Amino acid sequence: MAVRATRPDDALPQGERKYREVQAMFDRIAPRYDHVNRVISLGQDRRWRRRTVTALQLAPGACVLDVACGTGDLCNDLAAAGHRPVGVDFSAGMLAAAHTRAPLVRGDALHLPVPDGAVDGIVTGFALRNFVDLEGFLLECARALRPGGRLSALDAAEPEHALLRAGHDLWFRRIVPFVGGRLGHDADAYHYLPRSTAYLPAPRDLVALLERVGFAAVGRVTFTAGAVQLLTGTRA
Ligand SMILES: C[S@@+](CC[C@H](N)C(=O)[O-])C[C@H]1O[C@@H](n2cnc3c(N)ncnc32)[C@H](O)[C@@H]1O
Repeated sequence: MAVRATRPDDALPQGERKYREVQAMFDRIAPRYDHVNRVISLGQDRRWRRRTVTALQLAPGACVLDVACGTGDLCNDLAAAGHRPVGVDFSAGMLAAAHTRAPLVRGDALHLPVPDGAVDGIVTGFALRNFVDLEGFLLECARALRPGGRLSALDAAEPEHALLRAGHDLWFRRIVPFVGGRLGHDADAYHYLPRSTAYLPAPRDLVALLERVGFAAVGRVTFTAGAVQLLTGTRA
């Protein structure tokens, strides 16, 4: 069944239903995902991903998981920084559309296919709000990272300043669904995208959650007038 959340009073899916609908949605939009992404981010997404990799602050050669890797953009940025990326995603469609030389594994973010403490770093881009259990995902990251390992998680955000938020709302909630519907040929998916930010806890709660599951030196910065946030932490 398609993710269909086009009216303000539609309840967002939860649990098993969310898992199935999000997976099916990414399978559908995969062939046009990169193109639509470039357009709706006004080309800024590349810069955000590079900042995500730099924020790891890991020496070249680090083994880094790109969880929910999609078509592999972050894997490519990791490789360009001299790291050894491995991508994980549950959408066969996104993996089939990937354009990276990094090894890719089909799997669930909540059950990462690595032993405890096996990786130096984890990145994830625009996926936190898609997970069924955000705390479960962060606990799984803490399990997979070695002590001192680094997490760098990029996702959408809401500008704090009222004027900026109004402009962002117009872009994200009106223009993005229209453009995504036209270019991505999937109006439901690009209506869901802005609405899915409602799954994300408030900034202060996100930081507290990271600390609670075992991360130290937790940081949060925003880009592009607060429309995007980057959360970082060190496995304690
Ligand atoms: C918005 S895309 C982001 C893709 C890529 N990280 C990027 O920056 O372009 C979200 C990705 O999360 C993946 N995803 C969502 N839930 C997942 C889960 N539970 N396990 C693995 N991948 C998941 C989707 O298949 C999709 O590829």
